[in-house]
Amino acid sequence: MNEFYQKDIISIKDFDKEKLEKIFVSTDKIIKLNPAERREICKGKTLAYLFYEPSTRTRLSFDSAIASVGGNSLGISDITSSSAQKGESLADTVRIMSIYSDVLVLRHTLDGSSRFAAEISEKPVINAGSGTEEHPTQAIQDLYTIKKEKKKIDGLKIGIVGDLKYGRTVYSLLHGLGNYDVDVRLISPESLRVRSDSIYEIKKKLDFTESTNIDEHIDEFDVLYVTRIQKERFPDEEEYLKVKGSYVVGLDLLKQMKDDSIILHPLPRIDEISTDVDNTKHAKYFEQAEYGKHVRAALLGLILNEHGF
Ligand code: CP
Repeated sequence: MNEFYQKDIISIKDFDKEKLEKIFVSTDKIIKLNPAERREICKGKTLAYLFYEPSTRTRLSFDSAIASVGGNSLGISDITSSSAQKGESLADTVRIMSIYSDVLVLRHTLDGSSRFAAEISEKPVINAGSGTEEHPTQAIQDLYTIKKEKKKIDGLKIGIVGDLKYGRTVYSLLHGLGNYDVDVRLISPESLRVRSDSIYEIKKKLDFTESTNIDEHIDEFDVLYVTRIQKERFPDEEEYLKVKGSYVVGLDLLKQMKDDSIILHPLPRIDEISTDVDNTKHAKYFEQAEYGKHVRAALLGLILNEHGF
């Protein structure tokens, strides 16, 4: 039996290097299949999505991914149009949606929400973002992008810049990178450093330094991973205004970077990468979004097929 069959995806911490590499191989395989072969993988399977927070890429890439492997989707993308608005609990909503589907994709405002849902759902649950805690499929997509674009992950120097306190993609990425031999530099305003409760755990697996200055060592990075300041997660707007626009990656910064360095961003972007970077050879964030569809199709194929595909 394939080890991902009927398994939840709640945290990237459940994925070691061997598991990640298996997903990458499956993603490579799915990209090479022709559309008709691809549609056999999850033929007749239903994915349900339940999103308590806005999304463009994650929800639509799951939608597109399940269609590409022959399945279909249903779900709630605007929670105000669901019975949650009448007071229905997350537990009951999950229970009902798992009756109508083969796999449930959940995004929720609260840390721990996906783990809670997985305890209730009889079908596998995929965490599509839980509070400020985790976004595991984004991290798998990010690692896959690095591997495709740089041909390796081990040995790379990686800068991660922006909101490292509230950005859940950062936590998942750091834990994912902990499986590899990489040199990481975290760059953020003092008030947006990685949360102290997570630092200890991350330090056990990953070598990193911290700075507030994006210019220091910029010429050494193979990958610069840029994140948005998560305005919606600040308890106080005054605090947001103090750090808004702290870093803007523009053409001037690119001139200092290695010729073959790449820039990634989980998106959405606000103003932290200027649009004139988009057409440079360094910008790989739109490719990253495209890889996300293939990675998610591979994950669905593995979760929904006892013997893989
Ligand atoms: N990267 C990401 O999670 O984007 P969305 O919020 O648009 O899903």
